[in-house]
Amino acid sequence: MVPNTPAEQTSENDFDKFVLYNADAVKTILKQHPQVIMTLSGHRHLSTRYLEEDHIAYFTMASTVTWPLRYTVFEVDKKQITYNTYDIRCDPKVREEAKQNMLAVDTKTFPRTQATPNTPQGNQDLLDLISSESTKSGKLSLP
Ligand SMILES: [Fe+2]
Repeated sequence: MVPNTPAEQTSENDFDKFVLYNADAVKTILKQHPQVIMTLSGHRHLSTRYLEEDHIAYFTMASTVTWPLRYTVFEVDKKQITYNTYDIRCDPKVREEAKQNMLAVDTKTFPRTQATPNTPQGNQDLLDLISSESTKSGKLSLP
């Protein structure tokens, strides 16, 4: 919903088409309501991540049917938001094919950017950006 990755923030390769054109206006409205603690939007071909602005965590959810083939479970109580992201159970061949399909595109095509060119290092950087283990869980304290 809101620009999250560097490419979404700079609109490289039209990444801004994946976010609200009026994200700032929406955030202005939401932050006026202290009961709003989080938003969930997706899917994106990124493992779960969030940006925290004011008192709101803006989560971007992973795709379940294409790379990274993940879903997220949230636990929310008065003190915190906890999330854990899991790989969809499927044949390993399906997972590998999904990954290879994602890597097969050139630098000017989603989900690549100039920072993740179609090279061995670019592939690793793209995988790190999209689906690193660090994106699989987290905990946010609530005010
Ligand atoms: Fe998609």
